[in-house]
Amino acid sequence: MTIKASMTIDKEFKIGEIDNRIYGSFIEHLGRAVYGGIYEPGHPEADEQGFRKDVMELVKELKVPIVRYPGGNFVSGYNWEDGVGPVAERPRRLDLAWRTTETNEIGTNEFMDWAKKVNAEVNMAVNLGTRGIDAARNLVEYCNHTSGSYWSDLRIKHGYKEPHKIKTWCLGNEMDGPWQIGHRTADEYGRIAVETAKAMKWVDPSIELVACGSSNRHMPTFAEWEATVLEHTYDHVEFISLHTYYGNRDEDLANYLAQSLDMDQFIYSVISIADYIKAKKRSKKTINLSFDEWNVWFHSNEADKKIEPWTIAPPQLEDIYTFEDALLVGSMLISLLKRADRVKIACLAQLVNVIAPIMTENGGEAWKQSIFYPYMHASVFGRGVALNAIVSSPKYDSKDFTDVPYLDTVSVYDEESEAVTIFAVNRHQTDVMSLDADVRSFEGYRVVEHIVLENDDVKATNQHNHTNVVPHNNGDAKVDGGKLEANLPKLSWNVIRLAK
Ligand code: AHR
Repeated sequence: MTIKASMTIDKEFKIGEIDNRIYGSFIEHLGRAVYGGIYEPGHPEADEQGFRKDVMELVKELKVPIVRYPGGNFVSGYNWEDGVGPVAERPRRLDLAWRTTETNEIGTNEFMDWAKKVNAEVNMAVNLGTRGIDAARNLVEYCNHTSGSYWSDLRIKHGYKEPHKIKTWCLGNEMDGPWQIGHRTADEYGRIAVETAKAMKWVDPSIELVACGSSNRHMPTFAEWEATVLEHTYDHVEFISLHTYYGNRDEDLANYLAQSLDMDQFIYSVISIADYIKAKKRSKKTINLSFDEWNVWFHSNEADKKIEPWTIAPPQLEDIYTFEDALLVGSMLISLLKRADRVKIACLAQLVNVIAPIMTENGGEAWKQSIFYPYMHASVFGRGVALNAIVSSPKYDSKDFTDVPYLDTVSVYDEESEAVTIFAVNRHQTDVMSLDADVRSFEGYRVVEHIVLENDDVKATNQHNHTNVVPHNNGDAKVDGGKLEANLPKLSWNVIRLAK
């Protein structure tokens, strides 16, 4: 069977300029993300600093522009001073967030080196759980001040003459969550966040700051939390954060694939709250969104309960992703792009081994999970201006959602290279979607390629020794007389690339 959908895309239907940081990711001191992930001295692929070159190559393939670090829940118990200076003198600490032992072999300077090697900026989080203003302003001084002060000179003594010039900083992590070390009420967090923000910007006025929003839309404090935090911090921060993770826990695929509608709702709500505070304060400033943790996370939940406490770099949060997960990740990317006017930073959580597109074996290979592909396609081809498609699609209802369009789509126009890319998911479980698109505003354009990620088995996965989920570029999209026609296979992620 075939269902029909149609849409119009026009270069004038601009949502907004895409900030490249929307394709960011995240490395936390958690599980095998750092140790055994990006860093494994003694591995045949390790470079002179112990960083795995095979992993770096995959990160570069993803064109990751910014990486959040060092947490996550980890940051709320972290003493950044433990991770700088001679490695042999660094203390081992209990990490209360993940109940492991942290060796501190890798710290701020080494991570900055790694980020440079993969061409990424760093989005640095400060500890507002067990620490506060002093540790945060010292870290900014250590990283960003040129020289002539205690902390900047210490960095130089540690072998880093040039400042790291970190632009984007997070004021803590998920401070609304009872699981967080140093969990606070919205007022408590708002007060510490604004005072920390002021001190950090007194050290370096060029930095941009992210205040913690809710850990997800279903937190009991959601909405009130954002409003209260922004009441306190509005004039001193640039972003409010959002986090969300989904999972197909009930084996209900129709409902699972609709979960990006929850993400849409979350984004729209946070924009409304930020603008409500703007109105209340009669402010000229607009607060943007940093969706700095998003992904699918549920496969590893049971296995993680069996991990021996206080081990070093155990295999934690190692979700093995299925084909259906890749479809939802594709839709989540579409959700971010649909509000590219306000979502200016986003971080796929995470990047290596821990709920990640890249997996490694200790001592062995590095390989791509199913979710690697939609993330890579969006990051590589989704730069420019996001365009709002006017869509007409049949819809369905699921357990938690109504009016879910079978066609989920957004387009991106790169004015410089004059390239247009249509990202589209067909959520239908049995039917091909015949898509007609009016592309008259792109006169003289042709289809460069139509990439498709499809699979007959929604539970298909990639593992180190087999690759089942991999895209092909045999899609049938064609353009004729300003009309694009394409068949989107049942349950598929599509990337239709047009150029002159
Ligand atoms: O990304 C894994 C964890 O999820 C992070 O540490 C935390 O911020 C969130 O709850």
